[in-house]
Amino acid sequence: MAEFKELPAGAPMGVQALNWIDNRFPLSKLYKEHLSEYYAPKNFNFWYFFGSLALLVLVIQIVTGIFLVMHYKPDATVAFASVEYIMRDVPWGWLIRYMHSTGASAFFVVVYLHMYRGLIYGSYRKPRELVWIFGCAIFLVLMAEAFMGYLLPWGQMSYWGAQVIVNLFSAIPFIGPDLALLIRGDFVVGDATLNRFFSFHVIAVPLVLLGLVVAHIIALHEVGSNNPDGVEIKANKDANGIPLDGIPFHPYYSVHDLLGVSVFLMAFSAIVFFAPELGGYFLEYNNFIPADPLTTPLHIAPVWYFTPYYSMLRAVTSQMMYVLVAVVVIGAVLAVIKTKLAAPIKMGIVGGAVVLSALMLSIDAKFWGVVVMGGAVIIMFFLPWLDNSEAKSIRYRPSWNKWLYTVFVINFFILGYLGVKPPSPVGELVSQVGTLIYFGFFLLMPWWSRIGKCKPVPTRVTFAAH
Ligand code: HEM
Repeated sequence: MAEFKELPAGAPMGVQALNWIDNRFPLSKLYKEHLSEYYAPKNFNFWYFFGSLALLVLVIQIVTGIFLVMHYKPDATVAFASVEYIMRDVPWGWLIRYMHSTGASAFFVVVYLHMYRGLIYGSYRKPRELVWIFGCAIFLVLMAEAFMGYLLPWGQMSYWGAQVIVNLFSAIPFIGPDLALLIRGDFVVGDATLNRFFSFHVIAVPLVLLGLVVAHIIALHEVGSNNPDGVEIKANKDANGIPLDGIPFHPYYSVHDLLGVSVFLMAFSAIVFFAPELGGYFLEYNNFIPADPLTTPLHIAPVWYFTPYYSMLRAVTSQMMYVLVAVVVIGAVLAVIKTKLAAPIKMGIVGGAVVLSALMLSIDAKFWGVVVMGGAVIIMFFLPWLDNSEAKSIRYRPSWNKWLYTVFVINFFILGYLGVKPPSPVGELVSQVGTLIYFGFFLLMPWWSRIGKCKPVPTRVTFAAH
């Protein structure tokens, strides 16, 4: 326990009050460690806005969510009507609801950009592996949160989207059908499903999300922020132990982040006030029709932020399984021929590939679609150990790396676009190629990240005052 600090008599009231608190709770210590004496690299660019913006959207979602819960009814017979009531009769209800629905999409826009920043600057690499892993866990939890929230308005898309996705679980061998039943609480999506999704959406998942965000920031502040140069600022400190290229987070970045917040709020308000449906992308048109278990919509598609993964799910047809088996076999052969692994490990790889191929050919492609969709997110957890490049940041990697990252992004957009569209033979083929490109980017990273010559990485960050 820290020593009690006594102040001289006559100290100002405010100082006395703070001292009273500091003797009982590390308020000043926390303020210094995380704000006024948290030294962040001085060369942050606009990509560094998205962390604080994600925090802002998290707050918007929690606050608007609290007000929505005051008027919303998690009961299949009245849920849709209660949302209409919020929109029409509750004072400012329309604003709160549109802020929450736009906030959901804004969350994913901001988080995708935040993750992409991590990708291009190598922020997932040592010593920030845990920052990244907590981030990936946040992303998974965020997806669960958005999925469950989408059922609550009880529109046609809420209902049928949940029906499709929960049914996917029934493709898992042995436990699948029981698992799907457990998730739904009924044989079809119904009142029981709505009640449990409501409970998870408003309390269980947000608690986990908040805990993970706190862990994410504690881990980041333990190791310090990366920057666009990928140079560790802690390697160059002054006599007082302060990084030479660091500046205190507050006031420098607290003010800097206000610029990001202002621009964000302008775009956010424009959408909330003028285009809350955003052409059916933020609020799907079918969801303005109450859920009807007897009428399946012609085309069921998840909201845009899930569609790249949905495309990958749809890409796994029974023909695609042959391609995937070929990928497994080629992977195993290359591992045996090209690596210097010990013989027993190589034997294990061959055995594993044979068993996996047999399972891939015997279990329904629908199940492997689920595996591919889940794998597309899970693979990101392993990024810190897939990247072998000498340089962290894209700035100092071979120039062709920029093209590779561009292809990755375009491919992700194409997958997203195809996921919104009804299935078609061409779309299916393109999404199959897109799925291979997506996984190829990650799985071949240990190889491609070693190719080519990196430019010399400076010892100090590059910075031009603006
Ligand atoms: C609710 C969602 C999230 C919140 C509130 C959040 C918050 C933050 C904040 C405030 C920072 C410091 C400021 C900055 O570097 O931009 C940060 C850094 C970071 N975040 Fe997140 N984050 C979230 C999701 C994610 C996700 C999904 C990932 C990756 C999968 C991720 C990976 C990272 C990394 C690698 C850093 C360190 C970046 C660097 O130092 O260059 N975060 N996060």
